[in-house]
Amino acid sequence: MDAPTLPLTPTSPTWVAVALADLDTVHQDHLHCERKAAQSALSLVRSYPDRLDLVLAVSRLAHEETAHVVQVTQLLGRRGVAPTMDFGDEYAAQLYSHVRRGEPARLLDRLLVFALIEARSAERLALLADAIPDEATAILYRGLATAEDRHRDTFLELAAAAAPTEWQARLAVLARAEADVVARLPVRARIH
Ligand SMILES: [Fe+2]
Ligand SMILES: [Fe+2]
Repeated sequence: MDAPTLPLTPTSPTWVAVALADLDTVHQDHLHCERKAAQSALSLVRSYPDRLDLVLAVSRLAHEETAHVVQVTQLLGRRGVAPTMDFGDEYAAQLYSHVRRGEPARLLDRLLVFALIEARSAERLALLADAIPDEATAILYRGLATAEDRHRDTFLELAAAAAPTEWQARLAVLARAEADVVARLPVRARIH
């Protein structure tokens, strides 16, 4: 497949300032983002156990996300901050509302929504890596951003394999929806 292109609207610089001003809350939210990324990936194993290539790719991805849960938990520990309950994620909830019912459209849309969430997460983790003054935390975030970029590509490749003639047009539609969601949500000390 050609190199996937997934143009995102850039995150507002205001978000970086808001996040830096309350990094503990961002890290607490981030813990649950990583947990949900692992669970979302495994949900595909439950739904599509007959697709061997997909099961292998997303279970590996879930393994990495679980490692990220460990890393963010360790970061909270170093900062002397306890994890919290999940604050919820309106961003993801609004994106999921665009997933069509009925197969095979549902599979394609789930893969593309997961790709968009990975892409947005990677963008924001990289922004934090550039802005966080503590070097060890910045290095951690740089590494996580690289991993989420790779996960974006995994989901795009799975989407291309699942719907070779449709995925790019549908991605364009969902990317516009993602841009609208980002534009409408308040800027908060959250990953999304
Ligand atoms: Fe992750
Ligand atoms: Fe990821």
